[in-house]
Amino acid sequence: MAELGVNIDHVATVRQARGTNEPDPVWAATLAQLGGADGITVHLREDRRHIQDRDLRVLRDTVTVKLNLELAANPEIVEIACGSKPDQATLVPEKREEVTTEGGLDLLTHQQRVADAVARLRDAGIGISLFLDPDPRQIEAAHALKADAVELHTGEYALAVGEKATQAELAKLVDAGKQVRSLGMTLHAGHGLTYRNVKPVAAIEGMAELNIGHSIVARAIMVGFEQAVREMKRLVS
Ligand code: PXP
Repeated sequence: MAELGVNIDHVATVRQARGTNEPDPVWAATLAQLGGADGITVHLREDRRHIQDRDLRVLRDTVTVKLNLELAANPEIVEIACGSKPDQATLVPEKREEVTTEGGLDLLTHQQRVADAVARLRDAGIGISLFLDPDPRQIEAAHALKADAVELHTGEYALAVGEKATQAELAKLVDAGKQVRSLGMTLHAGHGLTYRNVKPVAAIEGMAELNIGHSIVARAIMVGFEQAVREMKRLVS
């Protein structure tokens, strides 16, 4: 049964739009936990466009489920991660101009940078997940880096149009999932998952964790955070 990590970045996005102190992502994290979240996920971006350093500190003090920090393999952010000690660090690619994370990490091109970040985070006792496209070469490289987990990028699956294309993308995730597990790593997935498309991904054998943000925050505006999380939790488990 997959666990649900709730990404609360976009609560902070609304706050930052006005530069005030509401809505507070810390409050959202509490409601998410009451709704059954197994984890809280935040992305501390280099440009601090949503989550702030203060959010990470307060979340570390208050979140009682797994705290998963998404971050780029940037030495400054890696140091903040080591100091704040999330339960898990998920390394993601990051481009300043992107609206959201656009693809998986390219471990073949950025091997040394990622290896340095992995070593530093591991020394700090933090579990390591790598956000990757469902590409066999990338998964091999994650194994070589001794990652604890791989989070498969589900963006292409989410964007696929029509049954045939959707099934083709799902098949890639299923195959990649088998490879991740056969190499002894834990299987996670996320990006672009919604109330409508999540079930087949949650049903992939051995799926341990799904990280979902935008769809839950969007629904929370209409029905409340706790209920939005409860509804998603029902679908993933
Ligand atoms: N997983 C990772 C690694 C991400 O970067 C994101 C987006 O921050 C998510 C999951 C959640 O994506 P979404 O907001 O589309 O659910």
